[in-house]
Amino acid sequence: MGKLNGKVALVTGATKGIGKAIAELMAAEGATVALNGRDAVAGEMIVKNILGQGQKAVFLKADLSSPEANHNLIASVIENLGGLDILIPNAGVLGLGSVTDVSIETWRRTLDINLNSVFYLLRAAIPHLKADGKSGSVVVTGSIAAHKGFPNHAAYCASKGALEALVKQAAVDYAPEIRINMVNPGPTDTELYKNSAVAFSNPETVLDKVPDTLPMKRIANPGEIAKAVLFLASDDSSWTTGSVLTVDGGASAAG
Ligand SMILES: NC(=O)c1ccc[n+]([C@@H]2O[C@H](COP(=O)([O-])OP(=O)(O)OC[C@H]3O[C@@H](n4cnc5c(N)ncnc54)[C@H](O)[C@@H]3O)[C@@H](O)[C@H]2O)c1
Repeated sequence: MGKLNGKVALVTGATKGIGKAIAELMAAEGATVALNGRDAVAGEMIVKNILGQGQKAVFLKADLSSPEANHNLIASVIENLGGLDILIPNAGVLGLGSVTDVSIETWRRTLDINLNSVFYLLRAAIPHLKADGKSGSVVVTGSIAAHKGFPNHAAYCASKGALEALVKQAAVDYAPEIRINMVNPGPTDTELYKNSAVAFSNPETVLDKVPDTLPMKRIANPGEIAKAVLFLASDDSSWTTGSVLTVDGGASAAG
């Protein structure tokens, strides 16, 4: 008996990295999973593998940088899967640059995907989560960058900080029907993480040095973040809302 049997889940940015791991774990736990992403080839391949294991999934292609795309995605989940129990806004971009260097276009795009998309998804999904008459659950992928200034990550840090405030605020308004929580990962082995190296003064060596700075002495694999998301998405966290679960190998504790 899976932890998510009979539930419908939507995971955005699910064609690679952390989102892919979340979608695969949720399907293995019995959910019918809608995987969103921009890369249809990668998305359909993941869905094929999930279906091949006797689990349930569909791929819904959408670029989430506009309000309409987010609203249409929720409508498509409701139409195709008959409802929504679990929403996982996970898609994210780095948008590198300092306040004076980052282009206005990059600033806007980073805020559009990392923050505004979550706002639009919540607006569109909340009436459906409530209408189901079940206790819906939202788990947002944040970052330890909500609490720490990383070099040349102005838009990224700002977007994740605001996202955490949004999660806490929305959790207050929509309890007790809907629980809204956040997982803040630390360094995790994905393309986004590797791409972040160029923001530092020593891009060739910075990533090699990260494990030694962490109490756990290694970075995470995406599956380890997915397990924390599963806890907050499932009934195991039935009294948890407005919480931020930091999953960072001790990075924040070490300062
Ligand atoms: N990897 C890390 O070290 C780390 C640490 C903290 C937080 N995070 C967060 O985890 C989440 C997932 O990141 P990841 O590391 O797996 O990165 P990734 O680059 O591997 O995956 C990001 C996903 O978001 C999708 N995406 C980006 N822009 C999109 C758009 N406009 N529309 C739809 N989908 C879009 C990508 O296609 C991809 O599927 C992000 O929110 C990121 O900020 C990652």
